[in-house]
Amino acid sequence: MEKPQQQSGKTSRRGFLGQALTTAGTVIAAPALLNQPNVEKETIPETKDVMTTTLSVNGKQHSLTIEPRVTLLDALRENMGLVGSKKGCDHGQCGACTVLIDGERVYSCLSLAVMQEGKKIVTIEGLADGDNLHPMQTAFIENDGFQCGYCTPGQICAAVSLVEEVKKGCVSYVTSDLNNPPQLAALSETEIKERLSGNLCRCSAYNGIVAAVQQVAGQKPPSPMAEILVRESQDA
Ligand code: FES
Ligand code: FES
Repeated sequence: MEKPQQQSGKTSRRGFLGQALTTAGTVIAAPALLNQPNVEKETIPETKDVMTTTLSVNGKQHSLTIEPRVTLLDALRENMGLVGSKKGCDHGQCGACTVLIDGERVYSCLSLAVMQEGKKIVTIEGLADGDNLHPMQTAFIENDGFQCGYCTPGQICAAVSLVEEVKKGCVSYVTSDLNNPPQLAALSETEIKERLSGNLCRCSAYNGIVAAVQQVAGQKPPSPMAEILVRESQDA
């Protein structure tokens, strides 16, 4: 006959260890149960639900058979081989995955591919006209709008959309007169920075990016060399 575990209403040291081991045994046993073939079949279906969808990307039709949960970014990169759109955060925080859908900028990591059937998708690969770069691509090169280039496809797509939004008279958070939206020629640096604030650059190439937008907007951006000289004079 075993001695009682309780002493004076308190759990003895031996009793406590016994209980702990029993509980741990239950926890350890649980994964072992899940590994049994009949349990695994019930929890993880072998056949996946897939859908067939046709997407128009950069003027080409792509027929895909994919799970409905696949994001547009993954469909572009994994199914169509269009790896220009980058996966930075995959959570709608960095803008590296920005593409154009019916002319408007969209985070492709936050959009399901099957939702885009019948729409016109343009990625960084589709902006140039043959060998002729899009004016925004040229402006990024001429104004040093990138360093490592990881954020650049998203930045360029967002900047292309920004210009079209200004042409349509869209206002931003920093627009002072909502009845009088800024024109491209008068778009301030503050407006450009605010309108591109959804695209982050870890290399901090922001000055060049703003200058690129100013160039496409018909403004005279400061030359990169002039900025270097100003910085050197400030450091001296
Ligand atoms: S990868 Fe889509 S916002 Fe960062
Ligand atoms: S150029 Fe490197 S993250 Fe923007």
